[in-house]
Amino acid sequence: MLIRENPFIRVHPWPIFYADTIGRFVSLTKSIIMPAIPQRDQLIAAALAAQQQAYAPYSKFQVGAALLTIGGRIITAANVENASYGLTICAERAAICTANAAGEREFAAIAIATVGGAAPCGACRQVLAEFAPALPILLVDSSNPLLVQETNLGDLLPMHFSLK
Ligand code: THU
Repeated sequence: MLIRENPFIRVHPWPIFYADTIGRFVSLTKSIIMPAIPQRDQLIAAALAAQQQAYAPYSKFQVGAALLTIGGRIITAANVENASYGLTICAERAAICTANAAGEREFAAIAIATVGGAAPCGACRQVLAEFAPALPILLVDSSNPLLVQETNLGDLLPMHFSLK
């Protein structure tokens, strides 16, 4: 099949399911064809390393994010909590700000490492969508890094807010 011969496209090897709030199993990813993420292993390792830098003395929930730029650079950040709680900065938004300061605004993928492989919060989804509305996303479970869920921002935040 032509699609399988394209090194940048691969058919997702298995469906990913999760139980919804009433116990039905639904597919996490609507896409059957996922783009192959270049530097996938490096990106996962970078998110796991960034997670170690989390400043999370209040929630103890450490988050590491690794953004892959279209030029192949990997930019990482972790969550930074604050005694006021509300001023906490999420890892994904910190990574976007770090990338912007480095002159990077075009992204090929993001890996996010947490215990349990949590999906990004709504605010982070909107901020990521500003730059990459269909961004491929790797959700890495740091307690078992071989457990990586693949999804993308188009599925996690359809119809993001836009002034355009
Ligand atoms: N957190 C993130 O870093 N990213 C998200 O997308 C959601 C939550 C952080 C904020 C806080 O430090 C901790 O996780 C618990 O909410």
